[in-house]
Amino acid sequence: MADPIDDLDRWLRGDFVRINTALEEAYFAERIDVISGRPEIDALKRELLQQGGPLMDRLAAMTLPVDPNAGYRLLGLIGHYLAACERHESPLSDREGGRQAAWAVSTKIGNALGVVPRFVFAHQSLFNEAVGGRYRTFTALPDEEIFIRYNALGVLAYYRAAEALRAIANIGVSSVVAAYLFDQAEAALNDVLRFNQDLARQLNVERFFFNIRPYFKTYRVGDTDYRGANAGDFSAINEIDVTLGLCSMNDPFYAAIVREKSHHVPPDDLGVLRSLAKRRSIAEMFKADQDANGATPQWKTNAAKFLAICKAHGAAYAFHHQRLVKAYVEAPSKTASSAHSAGVTSSGPPLDEVMGMLKRLMELRTARPNLNVP
Ligand code: HEM
Repeated sequence: MADPIDDLDRWLRGDFVRINTALEEAYFAERIDVISGRPEIDALKRELLQQGGPLMDRLAAMTLPVDPNAGYRLLGLIGHYLAACERHESPLSDREGGRQAAWAVSTKIGNALGVVPRFVFAHQSLFNEAVGGRYRTFTALPDEEIFIRYNALGVLAYYRAAEALRAIANIGVSSVVAAYLFDQAEAALNDVLRFNQDLARQLNVERFFFNIRPYFKTYRVGDTDYRGANAGDFSAINEIDVTLGLCSMNDPFYAAIVREKSHHVPPDDLGVLRSLAKRRSIAEMFKADQDANGATPQWKTNAAKFLAICKAHGAAYAFHHQRLVKAYVEAPSKTASSAHSAGVTSSGPPLDEVMGMLKRLMELRTARPNLNVP
């Protein structure tokens, strides 16, 4: 008998995509984010549950993978199904659609790995292997593929910048060798901006709002509602903020954001987030080195590079705020109809609150550190 995990993966790449796409096209034709109580649409939702339910039940009967990566991958596969059930507001009781089996397996994996027992964005961006060149998507809509592609590229570029900056702690800010790392970090952050711009050029606002965003909503696992997935659930952006000295874990506003996201990030990122409270920032290193040794020519060269990095970080994040969040979520939410019972944000709080939090983060990230460069 075929492996239940392989069967689930095959289904997620086949009929699951067909059903979701058919539902999305029906919603899009009416520019609404969900339709309920219409026979042909309810029949598609029933098909989703009738096919997905037995696959979940089979998972509950098997021995779960011991390897952490395999477990994390399985959590994402199950989460794709649960997220789709939630997105379509499928009319089902706790006993239907294999939900109890899906919850039991997700809870076991979540507890073992110290992560929330649900699908998070990393399952789509970083733990999503391509088969024949195609990674898992909820639908066959080109906009969804574009959304995942540029999000994943942006996240990878943030990791690259974080890694370059991390290495500077052991080299010192006035080293000629550090100059190479500063250049690497700046190039990576320029890539983030470029990927965000490519995303904004290619992603249709209405398609995102009606057909993509709703898959990232809050869903329930057992007795608990777990907040939705968002593309910010990875450690690198916070590592960059703190390492540059733009944000600090001593700031209660910022520390609360990092704490809140910590169980939504991939398992390896948790250690990085925990280490942030002890990080010495590069801005502090520049000041200490200048106080002790004066501003040597290499100190000045590297300080200019550091300021260029801060500028690139601010520019990429300001673009996210102005051209992605405002254009794809805030603006359409004022004019488009939403039939969903949950709000339009992925985290749950009202949009105004989320916008206020994101604006404050933008202000921190676009601030220019004062290095007193002579
Ligand atoms: C169409 C594209 C995008 C839209 C509409 C969007 C929208 C949002 C929204 C609404 C939030 C707040 C989530 C909530 O709490 O409800 C958020 C958070 C976040 N997003 Fe995006 N986003 C997009 C793409 C990206 C990309 C490509 C990246 C990075 C590679 C990114 C990085 C972040 C980060 C880091 C956060 C967490 C808050 C923070 O630390 O700034 N987003 N985004």
